[in-house]
Amino acid sequence: MALENVRLEVMKTVEKSVDGFIDKYLIPVDDIWQPTDLLPNLQNENYNEEIIQIREEAKELGYDFWVVLVADMVTEEALPTYESWLMDMEGVKQHGASRGEQNSWAKWVRHWTGEENRHGDTLNKYLYLSGRVDMREIEKTTQHLINDGFDIGTGRDPYRNFVYTSFQELATNISHKRVGQLAKKKGNKMLAKMCNIIAGDEMRHYMAYREFVKTIFEHDPSEMMLAFQDMMKKKIVMPAQFIRESGDDIASAFENFSNAAQRLGVYTTYDYIEILRKLNSYWEIDKMTSLTDEAEKARDYLMKMPDRMARIADRIAVPQDQHQFKWVAPNGTL
Ligand SMILES: [Fe+2]
Ligand SMILES: [Fe+2]
Repeated sequence: MALENVRLEVMKTVEKSVDGFIDKYLIPVDDIWQPTDLLPNLQNENYNEEIIQIREEAKELGYDFWVVLVADMVTEEALPTYESWLMDMEGVKQHGASRGEQNSWAKWVRHWTGEENRHGDTLNKYLYLSGRVDMREIEKTTQHLINDGFDIGTGRDPYRNFVYTSFQELATNISHKRVGQLAKKKGNKMLAKMCNIIAGDEMRHYMAYREFVKTIFEHDPSEMMLAFQDMMKKKIVMPAQFIRESGDDIASAFENFSNAAQRLGVYTTYDYIEILRKLNSYWEIDKMTSLTDEAEKARDYLMKMPDRMARIADRIAVPQDQHQFKWVAPNGTL
């Protein structure tokens, strides 16, 4: 059978477990938190006191912090790109001849999107109320990023896509958690809580996607291993790889954002390496048997990769010069 057909068969087989994964890893609408649970209730008489508190607490946070929070929010707001990308994967069927013919994979993507959509909403409203950033510039960046899309090197292959999403959900868990810790250190409890609760969602998503991959490993170990190796060889790019400021070229803001995140210790090369170690260990690739010769080699490559990357990372210094973004004024106030 051609490789693509085997993949489709595997996707059909795993699909039978997807409704169970939705129940296990996602939370029904009536039980899950909503952005307004974490933000001032503007229907309250004394709503202005809460807004004043947000603005006061926001004064303690530094330049790199705002840049990272803005770019994290914009990354979340580009969700239409991610949903349409995942809907296009081989094996996902979002419609049929009649209504209700979506398969369970399409249902997963929709429900996952529904949860993710709350992240950008929450951070967007917080940033708007904080009074520390130029919302119009940020909104232009978001619109640009959606216009520019992304290319994460997976094609329509579900194996590669699930490696990507496993990796990326853990990366966002780490970065939201760290931003929350920094906010807490500066006494900003409201923001700390938002970031923590978002990080909790990302953790559940990570656990789901890594389970998809683990299940695929059981059915098609060699091809899953080769897909994993291919993604790591290409490097996992960030979903906001093409981020730009207004008037600038595509992708021109990414490096400066990434440097700010590294300076703050919110997301570093060492985190990237740690994620790879975690995936190697959760998928137990060292114990995997019945691999083809090529997949054996891919496994060895993946096992050695974290140490090799760590040696290189030790030699690279993070640039210390702060780029001046249009999103945040120099002293943080506009
Ligand atoms: Fe998210
Ligand atoms: Fe996520």
